[in-house]
Amino acid sequence: MEEAIIRPARESDLPQIHAIYNDAVLTTTATWDYEPWPWETRLAWWQEHEADPTCPVFVSEVAGDVAGFAYLSWFRSKIGYRFTREDTIYIDPAYQGKGLARPLLSRAVETARADGMRAVLGVIEASNERSIRLHKGLGFVETARLPATGFKFGRWLDCVYLQLLFPEPGA
Ligand SMILES: CC(C)(COP(=O)(O)OP(=O)(O)OC[C@H]1O[C@@H](n2cnc3c(N)ncnc32)[C@H](O)[C@@H]1OP(=O)(O)O)[C@@H](O)C(=O)NCCC(=O)NCCS
Repeated sequence: MEEAIIRPARESDLPQIHAIYNDAVLTTTATWDYEPWPWETRLAWWQEHEADPTCPVFVSEVAGDVAGFAYLSWFRSKIGYRFTREDTIYIDPAYQGKGLARPLLSRAVETARADGMRAVLGVIEASNERSIRLHKGLGFVETARLPATGFKFGRWLDCVYLQLLFPEPGA
């Protein structure tokens, strides 16, 4: 496989980002959406991220293909949460298991650190061992487990919060 390039996403990446996500909606419990996003929702998502430099979107590009994407968003919208970001990462199934996820997520995490964030959270379905391992490999630790907070494909799902805490600014 050609080497992966990690770079900020461009608007022209949106069709591939959209396809990767919508496939995961239909085939996984990684996202608790049931219906694929309409294109307008993807565009609105892009505009929100474009407008906030502390919520960047990155892609991993392999031979001109978007192999995966990762981004930061506000964990909750109230102002007191402004130093916390939630991460999200999706790798195209054709590129999974090839070690692309770690450097991609790491780029998002390091951006949060550089932007003066205090915490990054991964909110992960509890049986998603790959994502849990990926996060733990970057230093995240489990800080909460919320049983039966999700329901998809006819079963109840638990979620785990994995958290990375940066030193207080100035410490
Ligand atoms: C989770 C995801 C991003 C990981 O990407 P990936 O390309 O599959 O993962 P990588 O090859 O980079 O490996 C990540 C880690 O998982 C481990 N892993 C791989 N397959 C695994 C499996 N079946 N069970 C447990 N761990 C596994 C790898 O060994 C690696 O850990 P290491 O760095 O300690 O060796 C990817 O599987 C994905 O997009 N899944 C669907 C969407 C999703 O779950 N997103 C996360 C939502 S929170």
